[in-house]
Amino acid sequence: MPKPNATLLIQNASELVSVASQGKALSGKNAGNVGIIQDGAIAIAGEKIIAVGTKAQVLKQVDATDAEIIDASGKTVLPGFVDCHTHLIFAGSREDEVELKSKGVPYLDILKAGGGILKTVRQTRAATQSQLVENAKKTLRTMLEHGTTTVEAKSGYGLDTKTEMKILDAATAAAKQSSTEVVNTFLGAHAVPQELTSEAYAKTVTDDMIPQARTRAEYCDVFCEKDVFSIDQSRRILLAGKKIGLKPRIHADQLHGTGGAELAAELNAVCADHLIHASQNGMKKMAERGTVAVLLPATGLSSLLPYADARAFIEAGVPVALGTDFNPNCWCESMPFTIALACRYLKMTPSEAVAAATINAAASLDRADRVGSLEVGKQADVVILDAPNHKFLAYQFGVNHIQTVVKKGKIVVRQEQREKG
Ligand code: NIG
Ligand code: FE
Repeated sequence: MPKPNATLLIQNASELVSVASQGKALSGKNAGNVGIIQDGAIAIAGEKIIAVGTKAQVLKQVDATDAEIIDASGKTVLPGFVDCHTHLIFAGSREDEVELKSKGVPYLDILKAGGGILKTVRQTRAATQSQLVENAKKTLRTMLEHGTTTVEAKSGYGLDTKTEMKILDAATAAAKQSSTEVVNTFLGAHAVPQELTSEAYAKTVTDDMIPQARTRAEYCDVFCEKDVFSIDQSRRILLAGKKIGLKPRIHADQLHGTGGAELAAELNAVCADHLIHASQNGMKKMAERGTVAVLLPATGLSSLLPYADARAFIEAGVPVALGTDFNPNCWCESMPFTIALACRYLKMTPSEAVAAATINAAASLDRADRVGSLEVGKQADVVILDAPNHKFLAYQFGVNHIQTVVKKGKIVVRQEQREKG
């Protein structure tokens, strides 16, 4: 049988981190089992991976005569990062809140005073769809340059039907004009607009917005939090979404323990996010259901909040994923920086954090069969780090280690090679 022709071959990697897991999230004892191959190579044909292994193994399996060849000597090859929790679409900024937060003003007090999310809502309502698309394209490009090839994007800065749909349409339009795959989440229930009670607004979300979000989003999310949406309201909103095919995910137990983790398990949500105050019982229920815990350490840093107990989730057998939580309160596009934070404040190991930023994040978006690992048959989303091993992601922070990014088999980022020494 003739060998398949590769279009792109990456070889000589000092470390290739396959995160091979047969399309499943990694959890428990396997949470950091990321399949490291020394002198690694990966062969790609078109959009797909056709061989992964040592250079010798890969060259035996494929014909690379016509392939573009990348020499990854001294470098690390990884799956493209999956950022599974972002609030991609908004207008304006909130740099003034840094000072308030450092003076000890709580997040919910800023919100109650009409700042925080409500400030961004005013700015987003006033923006045109094309302004939102331009902002998002810039953000997606920065994310791509930091190795992120798949992004979840929530709405939630409209809080009225027209603006929520404008936001979802902006995310779709930005995705079409970018290399990144964007997964839309409807988060109309992100805060209560100043003009309505939370009950009246919850009804607008279920009766008016969700039917219109059906063709515009894949997931439905809710900010389940004391003084925002109660457990009952959150359940009602997520069930209304589920009924028409929007899969539930949830901002749970972020500022107070309200039983959000338990609700996620009850509704068979694919994931629950934040979880700083999740109960032991909530963790147990999530483990039973295989609900992914999406942890967001950049939010702890930017809001001066405590951090989630990643070790407790891992020990309970819950798959842990990481996201940036990119939003105007937490302006962070970088998954490598998120990994560095997770390895300090969440006490994750570098290999656990890499799995959390790739295959487990993909699982939280129902895409672990297609992205999040370097395995034959999967989409060729690959990053090359200018670092000899994956531990540098945790170790060296505040710089961009990403040298090359491949999305669906195409080179979409190629940084200048730095001169040695
Ligand atoms: O995930 N907690 C609610 N939502 C965002 C913050 C949004 C904002 O402050 O603009 C979060 O942290
Ligand atoms: Fe969020």
